[in-house]
Amino acid sequence: FEPPKLVVPKAAELEEVDDDKPKVSIFFGTQTGTAEGFAKAFAEEAKARYPQANFKVIDLDDYAADDDEYEEKLKKETLAFFFLASYGDGEPTDNAARFYKWFTEGKDRGDWLKNLQYGVFGLGNRQYEHFNKIAIVVNDIIVEQGGKKLVSVGLGDDDQCIEDDFAAWRELVWPELDKLLRNEDDATVSTPYTAAVLQYRVVFHDQTDGLISENGFLNGRANGTSVFDAQHPCRSNVAVKKELHTPASDRSCAHLEFDISGTGLVYETGDHVGVYCENLIETVEEAEKLLNIPPQTYFSIHTDNEDGSPRSGSSLPPPFPPCTLRTALTRYADLLSAPKKSTLIALAESASDQSEADRLRHLASPGGKEEYAQYITASQRSLLEVMADFPSAKPSLGVFFAAIAPRLQPRFYSISSSPKIAPSRIHVTCALVYEKTPTGRVHKGVCSTWMKNAVPLEESNDCSWAPIFVRNSNFKLPAYPKVPIIMIGPGTGLAPFRGFLQERLALKESGAELGPAILFFGCRNRKMDFIYEDELNNFVEAGVISELIVAFSREGPTKEYVQHKMTQRASDVWKIISDGGYVYVCGDAKGMARDVHRTLHTIAQEQGSLSSSEAEGMVKNLQTTGRYLRDVW
Ligand code: 2AM
Repeated sequence: FEPPKLVVPKAAELEEVDDDKPKVSIFFGTQTGTAEGFAKAFAEEAKARYPQANFKVIDLDDYAADDDEYEEKLKKETLAFFFLASYGDGEPTDNAARFYKWFTEGKDRGDWLKNLQYGVFGLGNRQYEHFNKIAIVVNDIIVEQGGKKLVSVGLGDDDQCIEDDFAAWRELVWPELDKLLRNEDDATVSTPYTAAVLQYRVVFHDQTDGLISENGFLNGRANGTSVFDAQHPCRSNVAVKKELHTPASDRSCAHLEFDISGTGLVYETGDHVGVYCENLIETVEEAEKLLNIPPQTYFSIHTDNEDGSPRSGSSLPPPFPPCTLRTALTRYADLLSAPKKSTLIALAESASDQSEADRLRHLASPGGKEEYAQYITASQRSLLEVMADFPSAKPSLGVFFAAIAPRLQPRFYSISSSPKIAPSRIHVTCALVYEKTPTGRVHKGVCSTWMKNAVPLEESNDCSWAPIFVRNSNFKLPAYPKVPIIMIGPGTGLAPFRGFLQERLALKESGAELGPAILFFGCRNRKMDFIYEDELNNFVEAGVISELIVAFSREGPTKEYVQHKMTQRASDVWKIISDGGYVYVCGDAKGMARDVHRTLHTIAQEQGSLSSSEAEGMVKNLQTTGRYLRDVW
């Protein structure tokens, strides 16, 4: 079978582009920027290889204003690539959510994509149950609806080395694009390609020149309307901070309340809050020392040239506002993650010592794969540790913020309050990340450490604040409060259920009749980490929880987990499910949620006298009908 030769229409035939090159669309669904980075790197290399074609990188959200436009525009695509990340419980990224919903719901469109040749690269993590679900589903639907696959779907695995997966997939794409985009006469010529090290143009300012906003992040309030999102977060003060563990615990868990009164920021029970935190001063000072640039250096970064023309190959995140190096390192630079291979190459370019440069290039090369896995991944070496190991690498600020330190990403937390009880506060319940790495470094989680150290307004008018925004979720209570529910949330998995219970309390106080609600909570030891114990007991007393069942994992001789308690209470769990109830799970995805899922399956099998596959079908059905919801990470 010889596939029909594709005629790629000229870009100018499709939209107002003033050249007549063949058009290739490169879509991305990104959360933390990795998928976007891959899409842009892919486009850069493709442009270099096929100057005769027109490559466009497109944010899936920006592509179309509504479903009809998605359909209308996609129908005209003939050559496209999709870089799609999967998140949490096999969910699409925020910027791909609208596309994904529309695309997966319209199963019966026939072979409307028959003119499309395409490739999909997925970004996921094999430790999670729904590994690369989004990429796989999109790929399957495109095939079903007539699209022609140029390469197998790439299954990037962040648990290993996703850069390698991307590089391997890319190598499969070029021969296919050679066939489609190269002219007959240059079909055998392959353009060698080396990615250029990206950099911002940097302008140094005199502190007195007045253009400076040290606070950095712009407030989302524009033209009187408040639209807060990841790009336009809302500055909010920390009003309250409390430690939730007792002094007997060797760990820490913070309860934080952000004051959102008067900001226009709103939320619903079960939503997530995105928090931009700051690096610790000790981390920042270490970076300043390694860069050997004075912390008060005032500068701005730019993606255009001095004359305003775009810089070539500039696929960089939008610049942060002008500020001192101290502020830039504190707020915008991810200094503690493991450096990517492209980072090592950028460091090599900045190294004055030849042997250091060679070693860095080797670590980033295919031949250095094992060493990279050992030296970076297994050792959990941070960027700063690597820079300390290669002291001759002194990158310029333009290179450092573009190619070496990734942008510090917001961290998401399940909101642990309900606006029905706390309309002007967003509560967060955050366990401190504090662990020794194989190199002996103590890894302090950036945001959890910031929260633990936060100074609340209760204590000082000069309190801590952070730019925050709300991300909506579908982790919501049933519309009718009489519907019975089961909540399973050990550790900080309790967070959204505290919000649920506040909401139920408010409903009850306003006269609503509540259905049964069982809460399975788990912690190590009643005397150490039974968070919100008094509140939970009050909820029981108020009739907001019908039963609180706690598994203590480190009190007795054997571990007792929430799923063990569920098994002991199998008939009650089954009754709630059979009565049309909802099941909610929140917490760790890799261990707990997976085990709880298996337990539900077993309960269905045993209590409902179902075969294994019938039980599976029934649990799936609970999921698709929205009666089994998970908020997992
Ligand atoms: P552990 O730390 O004693 O193993 C909150 O973190 C609680 O969840 C702790 O009691 C923890 O127990 C427990 N936990 C750890 N792994 C779990 C799993 N796979 N399933 C359920 N609970 C788990």
